[in-house]
Amino acid sequence: MDIFVEPIPENELKPLFEDANNLAFGRIFTDRMFTMKYNAEKGWHDPKIEKYKSFSLDPAACVLHYSQEIFEGLKAYVSEDGRVLMFRPEQNVRRMNRSARRLCMPEIPEEDFLQAMKELVMVEKRWIPRAPGTSLYVRPTMLGTEAFLGVHPSAEYLFYIILSPVGPYFKAGFNPVSIYVEDTLVRAVVGGVGDIKTGGNYAASLKAGEKAQQKGFSQVLWLDAKEHKYVEEVGAMNIFFVYGSKLVTPPLSGSILPGITRASILELGPDMGLEVEERPITIDEVIEDINSGRITEVFGSGTAAVVSPVGLLHYKDKDYLINNNQVGEVTRAVYKRLVDIQYGKAEDKFGWVHELGRV
Ligand SMILES: Cc1ncc(COP(=O)(O)O)c(C=O)c1O
Repeated sequence: MDIFVEPIPENELKPLFEDANNLAFGRIFTDRMFTMKYNAEKGWHDPKIEKYKSFSLDPAACVLHYSQEIFEGLKAYVSEDGRVLMFRPEQNVRRMNRSARRLCMPEIPEEDFLQAMKELVMVEKRWIPRAPGTSLYVRPTMLGTEAFLGVHPSAEYLFYIILSPVGPYFKAGFNPVSIYVEDTLVRAVVGGVGDIKTGGNYAASLKAGEKAQQKGFSQVLWLDAKEHKYVEEVGAMNIFFVYGSKLVTPPLSGSILPGITRASILELGPDMGLEVEERPITIDEVIEDINSGRITEVFGSGTAAVVSPVGLLHYKDKDYLINNNQVGEVTRAVYKRLVDIQYGKAEDKFGWVHELGRV
């Protein structure tokens, strides 16, 4: 693919952030974005790296009414020795194409998608923060842009990628979060779209998020939609229960997102001497096993935090403390191993890291 790179005059470039350690998540964006259009006649066409700017959409654009929209989230890192790295980006490409198929949107050839992300990151490499734990967040998005009112797949699409430098997720240290278990509202059903990354899933989660915040919890743990019995996932993370040296996580039932961090932990576990198990796990079993001490740790997994220790679950008006609200050994070890691979510090046995070039 031949990507046209629009020159931007030096004096129009944005000032760089001042303190990488204090970057809020997803608040500032780099100078450029990648865009590419689709229609039936030309297929994907006009790939460009252009100035980051607002675009205009017809008020009748399909995405604004019927939510034909999908996205991804991944990161680029700089290693201590100045290499620009990405972690398993081909997995995000495949997941986005799965999302596209589910919502009747056109797939993007894998090689082109990867090339677009890598070229954009390299053109914008001055924006990749270098302080420990910081990174450049990459957000590919696809929208149905045809102007019509009526429910059918759009005939035209816009694919774009934007970049946002992000600070360390755990600013105040690697501390456990408290999670609210939602037992009434549901996020997704089997056969629905909970297993793809489409904006509507997140809109549907806002109400429970608000409830959790009002009660003083930072995140929501979802249960299955049918029986409100099986544990599914957290707002933007999959969940792992640690039973000594065994990691247990709910299976990909069709209503949870197949997290790339989750998949990586399932592969890394055995290499770290940890047994891994994917099985349905009920909230009653979780509560019982927390109370009996069989569950020794709980953590969430996702691109943003990588691994997030969970110190407390709040379910039906009661608090259940996990590992005395302390970060456990296993959680810490899994976090460290993954982060070290992502930042090019630990051996990349599985061939997960893509090297884009140097800063
Ligand atoms: C709903 C949901 N579950 C799980 C995850 C974790 O997925 P990943 O590890 O690919 O970031 C995310 C984050 O993208 C998410 O939005």
